[in-house]
Amino acid sequence: MFPREVYIRRRHQLKERVGSGIILLLGNEESSMSYKDNWYSFRQDSSFLYFFGLDRPGLAGIIDVDSGTEVICGDDVSVEEIVWVGTQVPLQEQAEKSGINTIRAQKAIELILKSAHEQGRQIHFLPPYRPENILKLSAWLSIAPATVSSMASVTLIKAIVALRSIKSAEEVAEIEKAINVTADMQLTAIRAARQGMTEANVAGMLQAVAVSSGGNLAFPIILTVNGQILHNHFGSAILGEGQMVLCDCGAESAMHYAGDLTRTFPVDTRFTDQQREIYEIVLGAHRAAANKLEPGKLYRDIHLWACEKLAEGLKQVGLMKGDIKEAVAQGAHALFFPCGLGHMLGLDTHDMEDLGEEYVGYTDDIKKSTQFGLKSLRLARALEPGFVLTVEPGLYFIPELIDLWAANKKFEQFINYDKLSAYKSFGGIRIEEDFLITAQGSQLLGKDLPKMIEGIEAFREQR
Ligand code: GLY
Repeated sequence: MFPREVYIRRRHQLKERVGSGIILLLGNEESSMSYKDNWYSFRQDSSFLYFFGLDRPGLAGIIDVDSGTEVICGDDVSVEEIVWVGTQVPLQEQAEKSGINTIRAQKAIELILKSAHEQGRQIHFLPPYRPENILKLSAWLSIAPATVSSMASVTLIKAIVALRSIKSAEEVAEIEKAINVTADMQLTAIRAARQGMTEANVAGMLQAVAVSSGGNLAFPIILTVNGQILHNHFGSAILGEGQMVLCDCGAESAMHYAGDLTRTFPVDTRFTDQQREIYEIVLGAHRAAANKLEPGKLYRDIHLWACEKLAEGLKQVGLMKGDIKEAVAQGAHALFFPCGLGHMLGLDTHDMEDLGEEYVGYTDDIKKSTQFGLKSLRLARALEPGFVLTVEPGLYFIPELIDLWAANKKFEQFINYDKLSAYKSFGGIRIEEDFLITAQGSQLLGKDLPKMIEGIEAFREQR
């Protein structure tokens, strides 16, 4: 945990922003995997962690904004539970580390909320994403489960997004720890991958790096020779001659801050000429986007700038043609880059995505596009010092999408479909790094990890 003053300050700022009413922040429960007592690894809710730091299941925090009182509701483990899970630090003792002195039993939540409801007070809660919390809110507040999310407090969401978007120095240090472990995962993959191994053989080694660092995975590892599938989790595919491995992985620190890096490297020691050509385009777009990072810039404009660089490169190799600015404006490049340039990073890999992209990445003035490709951009708004975000351009050759667009002659003024047949089994390339926005510009986070072709090939040669 951070020092208790950090949590006290955060809750004070939250109260000021919310103004009045009752704030209910739900922690997570254990979640069953295949039968009741076979749990997924416990992961606390990130907003609960942010305001209370208490990393154990079955808790709720209730903040009365008007009186200023703060209560943690939860139960200590019984002796029967201790038989299975061991002794736990008493909740009172743990909560004091967060600056909370009042503990109530879990069953008190309903009474507190009922009393607030009867007094006509507003109860602010966040949109739940776990079924257990949907059902709890439904029962406590007498709302049908299907409508619970729509009743979440926009005031509370906006307040939390405003606070969590700006990372403090101690948070950046935690994120950097996670990125450094993530870099070790990447180096493990670049050093260990051999022709004939399965994707899972390599991914298993990466998971060991994350877990043995004292943390865990921030999200399931994407490690694949089919890098054109954006979120292709590792599997039984065998690393073959002439292929590339796309590795997108992230560790989370013991305090649950995430890293998120992607590298693409050849299964052989060296990239082929065709791979090299496309890799350099992605690298150029990455550099161009990273150079634009500074406060006040719309991330949507940086995304579009990167798209232009990708499309210009594709024009140079003969896969696109015509007026590139116009091609990007119309969305033709999305055949090769059907996703966004990046997202916020913090306690979550897609930070605060559970609170709603419209609040995290967009504003009342900057609304999400419906255009294919651009609609997948998670972050569009103006950058501010303290934001931590990813920059992750890529080029993807998705045979099904190529066939569909070619059959429909879609954007044939911008795309050379006849040349694309030589790329249909190419796969995909993504290069991803994590940046802090500073007052002057930006700072690359984490230790050195090769991304230039020569650096990657040098590591492959050392195998
Ligand atoms: N790096 C995984 C993701 O952004 O979804």
